Amino acid sequence: MVLLKWVGSKTASCKVIADKIGTVSGRYIEPCIGGGAVLFELQSRKSLNGEIFVSDTDADLINFWKAIRDYPEDFKQHVRHKVENGTYCHKNYYHIRKIFNGEKTDSVILNTHRDHMRVISSAAVVYYLNRTCFNGLWRRNSKGEFNVPVGSNSGINLTFMDSETDRYTKLLQNVHIDCVDFEEAVRKAQKGDVVYFDPPYYSKDGTNFTQYGGEIFDKEKMDTLYAVATNLSIRGVRVFISAPGYFEPTKIQAKRVKETYILMVGRPVNRNGGGREPVEEKLMELEVGG
Ligand SMILES: C[S@@+](CC[C@H](N)C(=O)[O-])C[C@H]1O[C@@H](n2cnc3c(N)ncnc32)[C@H](O)[C@@H]1O
Repeated sequence: MVLLKWVGSKTASCKVIADKIGTVSGRYIEPCIGGGAVLFELQSRKSLNGEIFVSDTDADLINFWKAIRDYPEDFKQHVRHKVENGTYCHKNYYHIRKIFNGEKTDSVILNTHRDHMRVISSAAVVYYLNRTCFNGLWRRNSKGEFNVPVGSNSGINLTFMDSETDRYTKLLQNVHIDCVDFEEAVRKAQKGDVVYFDPPYYSKDGTNFTQYGGEIFDKEKMDTLYAVATNLSIRGVRVFISAPGYFEPTKIQAKRVKETYILMVGRPVNRNGGGREPVEEKLMELEVGG
């Protein structure tokens, strides 16, 4: 089970991706961390021997992972209290969602007890919404508002929340977590490091974009990512990029691709999430060196 369900999660393919990445002796950098399936798989295998840097542009998500890393006891206590006093229930879903969308999470500097409580309560609300919303989808509209309706699932299981929080806290202990764009995140990468990009996917016809926040990750952004990835690989960084099966790199991009691994993964295919059929995903490994 995962602590946070995330659109585009690599839960189904993380084992194969971790096999391809292998043991990392330099730094490991993952700039689109989302639910962190690949990071957690690599950490469970003890494959990461250097410093670890993960990031994302979703401030609520980054706040969540920091709370799990730094304040697990406060987080668990807060969630338990809200479930037991009846606040975190299906009936309150739309009210809590409205408050959540009205409060902007930013990188809180922890000077006061109030700041600390903001980090904990925001992480707890993310967890509540993620567990209670329809199909565990985490999607936002173009204004960056979380807009998923309430689901029919049973909500928060406190026993699971306790044990999974502890497990993830251990896996995050030595991990640097930042809220930055991918370009900023990989600036520190140098020869011998590994960067794994799992950017948002855009649809086959290039018209539909998976929305994670206000900014749309379109073809232009994807081209920037490939240019950044190319530079990294020329500088001696091992680079891996995930993409949907239909993605075809341009001729220039393809020249840097050393290997393309085709992964077949099970995915929910209908709106109820009931049917599952294999979906093709790609993992591209870039050539290292000039
Ligand atoms: C496909 S998801 C990653 C899923 C993740 N690998 C997992 O297993 O859950 C893509 C992530 O990229 C993030 N993202 C979107 N634009 C970004 C940007 N410009 N820089 C960094 N991350 C970005 C989204 O917030 C989202 O969490």
